[in-house]
Amino acid sequence: MKISPLQVERLKYQPKLPKMLRGGISKICVKEGSETQSVADQDKIKALFPNTYGKKEITFEEGDNTSLAKKQVVGVILSGGQAPGGHNVVCGLYDALKATNKDNVLLGFKKGPSGLLEDDYLEFDDEYIDQFRNTGGFDIIGSGRTKLETEEQFAIAAEVCKKHGVTAIVIIGGDDSNTNAAVLAEYFAAHDTGVQVIGCPKTIDGDLKNEDIECSFGFDTATKTYSELIGNIERDANSAKKYWHFIKVMGRSASHVALECALQTQPNICLVSEEVAQKKMSLSSIADYIADSVNNRANNGMNFGVAIIPEGVVEFVPEFSKLIGEINELLAGEKANAFNELESWNDKYAFIEKGLTSESMDVFKILPEAIQQQLFLERDPHGNVQVSLIESEKLFSALVKAKLDERKAKGTYNGKFSALHHFLGYEGRCAFPSNFDADYCYSLGYNAFMLIQYGYNGYLSKISNLSKPSDEWVAGGMPITKMMNIERRHGEDKPVIRKALVELDGKPFKYFEAHRENWALNTEYTYPGAIQYYGPSQVCDLTTRTLALEKE
Ligand code: FBP
Repeated sequence: MKISPLQVERLKYQPKLPKMLRGGISKICVKEGSETQSVADQDKIKALFPNTYGKKEITFEEGDNTSLAKKQVVGVILSGGQAPGGHNVVCGLYDALKATNKDNVLLGFKKGPSGLLEDDYLEFDDEYIDQFRNTGGFDIIGSGRTKLETEEQFAIAAEVCKKHGVTAIVIIGGDDSNTNAAVLAEYFAAHDTGVQVIGCPKTIDGDLKNEDIECSFGFDTATKTYSELIGNIERDANSAKKYWHFIKVMGRSASHVALECALQTQPNICLVSEEVAQKKMSLSSIADYIADSVNNRANNGMNFGVAIIPEGVVEFVPEFSKLIGEINELLAGEKANAFNELESWNDKYAFIEKGLTSESMDVFKILPEAIQQQLFLERDPHGNVQVSLIESEKLFSALVKAKLDERKAKGTYNGKFSALHHFLGYEGRCAFPSNFDADYCYSLGYNAFMLIQYGYNGYLSKISNLSKPSDEWVAGGMPITKMMNIERRHGEDKPVIRKALVELDGKPFKYFEAHRENWALNTEYTYPGAIQYYGPSQVCDLTTRTLALEKE
């Protein structure tokens, strides 16, 4: 395979470990901290996890290794959406495992959790793994979204582990995958399988974080990649001075990605879904908010700008969620047939008008026709509207245009408005990991093996103090049950890791809030440029603004 000059160099990069892991396997010992409690619903979580609840937080230190000599056969799984650095988690795991005992074995279950259920795997060796060091992507074994959550699946997983003599499974995934890792760990303990389960925090969305996990891996590289592109678009906008760019950025639900990109690039507008929900903003009020910036800038002769729209925003607009709920109800089960038989959009529209409440119809009416049709035509196998497919960047630019037309008619706006649309998502998920993600991920994998070697089960690999240089990072582990609470999911009470939304009283949002008025009116763009892998530390080892502000 032909590889790029950058890849040739990146294959040689030696990721940095926290200091306490640098002395070699024989010099890593464990320090146990205090017993833990779940963040909420302690009695319920304890009852659900009798074997894995309440275990101690641990950190690693330099000192004589006291773990038992035992041959390890570890299985690793990549779960969910790609995030830069996943390959390095596997490499770190492999290197620690082989450094401990060259007869240890690392198996990679292919295409996500289904690989474990289908016993579809490969065995890693030096030659294979070396091609993937410090590269983006999950193609080393592939990923998938099958959930490991039922007793039947756990029983199959236990059988597959027994067949190969697997002593531990490492699950690299987001909040749901790590919740399932905790449930699997409890099952393995309850059934005396002797198999341990360790999780690693992954997702570009940045919503797997809490007082123990400072950030999920991939967030750093993905947001730097998007910010480079947004900065380039800003510079183009400021050069041509004739377009408003509406840029939707990935992040299924929380707005961490959008907010981080805004902190890096200082656009004129960035919507934050969590604020939209808190202020119960309507589509019309959001459109007015953006139109004000367009209008004020036009008054100063600037008919251009940049607006960042988080992927999940429409679900946070209360009136829009209500509309989606009514549409799902209107077309539930057999009811969809009557709708599907109607031939023209006019007939379909009349059907919709009859079925929706007048409030939802008022919302529906202001949507551009393409979006109206999207809501009814592109639905998932259960018949539900696929909110993630809604082109919200086009939705908001159309709503803003309508507002500006009204203002023009009233004589309060006299500018030009020409909009362009972008969606930045997949572009960032498989980028070469930044030095931060390359180091962080390698450390997470290396550390995961140390947790296995010391016999821990149901733990998340934890590397903290991340806003400091890697020398000062702290390696350890946290029982996953500590991060859990009970939430209502699909009509049932479930133990889950709480998803972290943007905190409106947190420092990153507060910083944004203090500056956004200036950014909306003036041209304060900053241009981060491409991720740098070689050169001065102040550009190559920069953490995200979010992490820096949170740890200030
Ligand atoms: P994870 O939560 O699994 O890390 O995936 C996040 C994400 O990248 C979201 O940002 C995005 O909405 C979604 O995956 C896209 O999913 P898919 O890859 O299935 O299209």
